[in-house]
Amino acid sequence: MVNPFFNKDVISIRDFSRSDLDYLFLKSDAIQILPVEEKKKLAFGKLLGLTFFEPSTRTRLSFEAAMLSIGGDVISITEPRTSSVEKGENLHDTLKTVDSYVDLMVIRHRMEGAARFAAEVADNPVINGGSGAEEHPTQAMLDIYTILKERGSLSNLKVALVGDLKYGRTVYSLLYGLSLYNTEFALISPPELKIRDDAFLDIDSKIRISYHKNLEEVIDHVDVVYATRIQKERFPDPVEYEKVKGSYLIDNLLLSKAKKGLLVMHPLPRTSEISHEVDSTPNAKYFLQTRYGKIVRSALISSILNE
Ligand code: CP
Repeated sequence: MVNPFFNKDVISIRDFSRSDLDYLFLKSDAIQILPVEEKKKLAFGKLLGLTFFEPSTRTRLSFEAAMLSIGGDVISITEPRTSSVEKGENLHDTLKTVDSYVDLMVIRHRMEGAARFAAEVADNPVINGGSGAEEHPTQAMLDIYTILKERGSLSNLKVALVGDLKYGRTVYSLLYGLSLYNTEFALISPPELKIRDDAFLDIDSKIRISYHKNLEEVIDHVDVVYATRIQKERFPDPVEYEKVKGSYLIDNLLLSKAKKGLLVMHPLPRTSEISHEVDSTPNAKYFLQTRYGKIVRSALISSILNE
């Protein structure tokens, strides 16, 4: 099978087909059963550069853990204030410098278009680790892999997307990624955080969408509830954030009305969207997502580095 990721940038989930994602998921399955000494050869002698201009726990650490698990090494800018950005160095020169040291780079930036810009600047492949409110393609990859592993199939899938559908970049990548599997979506958000029209670019003929005021309306027939944090940091006006914060709560009372086997997912970090009592239910999959994230990112790095 031809490796569709070899030496490629991963900037948008829109750059990949269903067969590309299926390839990655097979690779993710395979990497888990490799003996450690074989796994360590996959990135031996290679260096990953992490350039994070926005805070992160999962994306940064899982990329780091993934690279180390396949035998590579990692260097990082995790706090721009300790780099020469603080002295006024521009993004171009910072990225050009990191690119001169590494074989592969991951960038997270608050600006839409920053990852695409990094790919233009760098000679080596670039992975988008989250670009403003635009996209988070590897989150969608690990989200879809989680559904595949925990539900057993991606057929006839019904997904409720809940919360901040306007600024939540994971939603945009997931919507497109799951459109490749003919998914049905229920969208639930306050009017102020309604999904942007650009979410449906190129996919409106492939998906079925319904809009709802609250999760109760769909909880008994969806397979997945994908909750997102209301992203305070992306609101131009703090007053607007105060109006919508705490709009949704997933708790055990709500889950008592759910379809059997419902997966409750969240890219994390959460604030108040999911009650902690849900964590110990079999429905809670958000910490499994973090585990699958390391696996999928190991498979992705390995696929980019090895033909
Ligand atoms: N899901 C996700 O992107 O989490 P972090 O912001 O912690 O990386």
